[in-house]
Amino acid sequence: MKQLFDGVYEKNGTLLTLNARPGQRAYTEKLVNVGNKEYREWIPSKSKLGAAIKNGLKTFPFTRASAVLYLGSSTGTTPSHISDIVTDGTVFCVEFAERVMREFLHLAEQRKNLVPILADARKPQDYAWVGSVDVVYEDVAQPDLVEIGIRNAERFLKDGGCLMVAIKSQSIDVTEKPGVTYKACERKLRDAGYKVVETIILEPYEKDHAMIVARK
Ligand SMILES: C[S@@+](CC[C@H](N)C(=O)[O-])C[C@H]1O[C@@H](n2cnc3c(N)ncnc32)[C@H](O)[C@@H]1O
Repeated sequence: MKQLFDGVYEKNGTLLTLNARPGQRAYTEKLVNVGNKEYREWIPSKSKLGAAIKNGLKTFPFTRASAVLYLGSSTGTTPSHISDIVTDGTVFCVEFAERVMREFLHLAEQRKNLVPILADARKPQDYAWVGSVDVVYEDVAQPDLVEIGIRNAERFLKDGGCLMVAIKSQSIDVTEKPGVTYKACERKLRDAGYKVVETIILEPYEKDHAMIVARK
């Protein structure tokens, strides 16, 4: 087994995180025993962060003690893996759809470092109590997703912290080529004062998606 990043492993091509809740799954992942430890398979076709790692992501800002603001947590597939990694930290998870939030609450009951926030990520003033974070991770599939990410990063992200934005090009402009849309998103981030560190295309796991990593 190879360690790729803090808390992220790979065995025979399968990504793994150490299961913070042994015996329990968060979605349809397999549980894998290595030595006397239990890991969870991180399925890249179900998690854009997993896809970015498989496709060679170099910047991995999550550590054991990180505070993370996660925008668009849905039922918690990717947040569950971040929860495995930031064992001494906190993942503040913002989601505005009540139905998926109800499902997410079951996961958050089991994993105490996941903090559910039922709110619109366009209104960071509604969860101003979150305080400063090391990472803002965003996966909201909205036309104004870059603006939403910047608004949150301006309010919560520490200087030098990372803003990671999953771009769904079809949500931004269905008529434009994805590569052109990714460049336009990078430009918006630079214009707002962020340094674009890398952009990872997420195919074949996610069609017409990329992950942009920027630093404040
Ligand atoms: C692609 S899914 C996220 C999947 C999740 N990030 C994962 O990898 O496990 C996008 C989620 O963003 C949520 N969302 C979209 N716009 C939002 C907004 N303005 N505020 C909060 N959540 C939003 C949607 O309800 C949906 O659950």
